[in-house]
Amino acid sequence: MSGLLAGKRIVITGAARGLGRSFASAIAEAGAKVVLCDILAAELQDTAANLRLTGAEVETFCIDLASPESITQVFQEIAAGGGVDGLVNNAALATGVGGKNMMEYDIDLWDRVMTVNVRGTWLVSQAAVPLLAASGHGKIVNVASDTALWGAPNLMAYVASKGAVISMTRSMARELGEQRICVNAIAPGLTLVEATEYVPAARHQLYENGRALVGKQHPTDVDGSVIYLLSPLADFVTGQLLPINGGFVFN
Ligand SMILES: NC(=O)c1ccc[n+]([C@@H]2O[C@H](COP(=O)([O-])OP(=O)(O)OC[C@H]3O[C@@H](n4cnc5c(N)ncnc54)[C@H](O)[C@@H]3O)[C@@H](O)[C@H]2O)c1
Repeated sequence: MSGLLAGKRIVITGAARGLGRSFASAIAEAGAKVVLCDILAAELQDTAANLRLTGAEVETFCIDLASPESITQVFQEIAAGGGVDGLVNNAALATGVGGKNMMEYDIDLWDRVMTVNVRGTWLVSQAAVPLLAASGHGKIVNVASDTALWGAPNLMAYVASKGAVISMTRSMARELGEQRICVNAIAPGLTLVEATEYVPAARHQLYENGRALVGKQHPTDVDGSVIYLLSPLADFVTGQLLPINGGFVFN
């Protein structure tokens, strides 16, 4: 994938750890400057420092997706630093959001999940659109989840939020086509990162045994889909959902 994103500047939210950190590393390896955004200030700086050791060009911004003011402020600063060719909407409230069924689910938690995962994805995209339009070949990749496809139980707000991200992807693709901005979503299956260490063993077993490609899923299994959707190879691909789960569920 070396050189596929040469000369591009790509914004990745939720880049401090987990899948976002892996995407950032792969995107930098493919030749792009990476703009890392996250709410976790210390982890963000660690991730950036490690990436710089590999020779990557890295910028960092602390952002809170629950705050419209924070999003506006950060994108003003990003715009001051130059153009943007791609956005990976990866940040989400993905930990501490499960374990209760729909009869027990907490209203405050529901609201927080929707605010970050759905409203945050919309507002970040909105802030990025003028920059992406100016690039002439802008790309948005939304990170959904295959839990929205198979209806994972005891994870109600998160699953609903990812269903909304998939629907929003299609709507954005229609609205932004005129500006030649492609908008697509990926739906990873259960992937081994820090955050999924707390997922019950039974859920890990379900995925590992249920995949057509039996076994565990790692962040590097997902990276290629993001590089593809950000690259010129996908200039005529928009509004699509790509499940990356080793064949656990099909789209
Ligand atoms: N790991 C999996 O199994 C899996 C599967 C399907 C989808 N996903 C999706 O992949 C993405 C990354 O998840 P992950 O597994 O790496 O988990 P994670 O919790 O490590 O990553 C989420 C990132 O988003 C950041 N974030 C959370 N709230 C934020 C806010 N208000 N403002 C800014 N940043 C915020 C976190 O600090 C973190 O760095 C998420 O969208 C998640 O839903 C993960």
